Parts: sequence; structure tokens; C-alpha cells
Amino acid sequence: MTLPASHPMSFSRGEISVLIMPHMANILGDLFGGNLMALVDQAAAIAAIRHAGGRVVTASIHKVDFRERIPIGSLVTCRSTVDFVGKSSMDITVEVYCETPSTGERKHANTAHLVFVAIDEKGKPVTVPRLIPATAEEHERYAAAERYRQEHAKK
Ligand SMILES: CC(C)(COP(=O)(O)OP(=O)(O)OC[C@H]1O[C@@H](n2cnc3c(N)ncnc32)[C@H](O)[C@@H]1OP(=O)(O)O)[C@@H](O)C(=O)NCCC(=O)NCCS
Repeated sequence: MTLPASHPMSFSRGEISVLIMPHMANILGDLFGGNLMALVDQAAAIAAIRHAGGRVVTASIHKVDFRERIPIGSLVTCRSTVDFVGKSSMDITVEVYCETPSTGERKHANTAHLVFVAIDEKGKPVTVPRLIPATAEEHERYAAAERYRQEHAKK
């Protein structure tokens, strides 16, 4: 199958929602950070697979900000976007929202930045489609991800 040369940013947006059960908690009764990381990685993988149209691996988890505790019984939603691409790499942001289902109260709990790389059957990096931002918000996300990448490339 021939891959398209580009995808709009909206094409690959991903989302997963999970009700937090006791087995996912830490000793304080909140979602264990490692379990949250797994949800973030899965949400990012959805966007990466959609954009690449094939196999991907997590290359790097750049940054995770834990802003809010997430108690048992919360409904957690992770939303992922591909914000920038290189040749085979994809910069992905995951926003985590925490809802109390009984009241509908919703908080922005976390943000994470990850890099995924598209690979072939032998594990070698392969070129991904170009990324096309459309809205003002998407252009801002694209520019911010490009700046972030340039700043970290210098170090
Ligand atoms: C990620 C991986 C495919 C890179 O392979 P490689 O042969 O080292 O590839 P290269 O050095 O040619 O880099 C390929 C791309 O990955 C990017 N990359 C590699 N390592 C990276 C890292 N740690 N952070 C961010 N980007 C990275 C490069 O910048 C390059 O991007 P570009 O193609 O857009 O220019 C390889 O290291 C790998 O398979 N790692 C294990 C992944 C894994 O097991 N993840 C956890 C489970 S999914």
C-alpha cells in the first residue's frame, strides 16, 4: 500500500477513557503514576499509529507534569495529538482529564510529551507522512513543538 504524502493534524487525534479501579491505585488511593504513564503511552500510540499508518515504537517520554491526584472512581480521558514530525519521528502531546462521574466535575490533570518513531518489520525507522496543521490552534501547537525540538537538539 502506498502511504499518502501528508495527513492533517486532525486525522490522527486519539482518545481513551478508563474508569479508575482499586487495583490501579497507589497506597494513598489515587491512580498509581506508573499506571497513568501506561495510559499516556497507549493514547500516544493511537495517534502515532494513525499518522504513520503502521508500526511505531516509543522512543522517548520527554516530560510529564502531574498536576492533580486522580482518585479511585475517576473517569480518566487521555487525548493525544501528533504536533510535529521529522523524517521517521513524531512528537506527540497527551492531555489527561479527570472527571468525577457522579458530579460531572472535570479537571485537566496532566500533560505529557512523547516521541514515537515509525519502523518497518525489521525495526528500522521509516519515513512518515508530513503533518499539516489547519486551525490557528494547530499552527500554534506545531510551532511550539518545533521550537521545543530545536531547543532540545542544541543540548
Ligand atoms: C527508536 C528507534 C527505532 C530508533 O532507531 P535508530 O536506528 O537509533 O534510529 P535513528 O538514530 O536513525 O533515528 C531515527 C529517528 O528517531 C529519532 N530518535 C531516536 N532516538 C530518539 C530519542 N531517544 N528521542 C527522540 N527521538 C529519537 C531520531 O531523531 C530520528 O528522527 P527523524 O527520523 O525524524 O530524523 C530504536 O532506538 C528502538 O527501536 N528503540 C527501542 C524502542 C522501544 O523498545 N520502545 C519501547 C516499547 S514500544
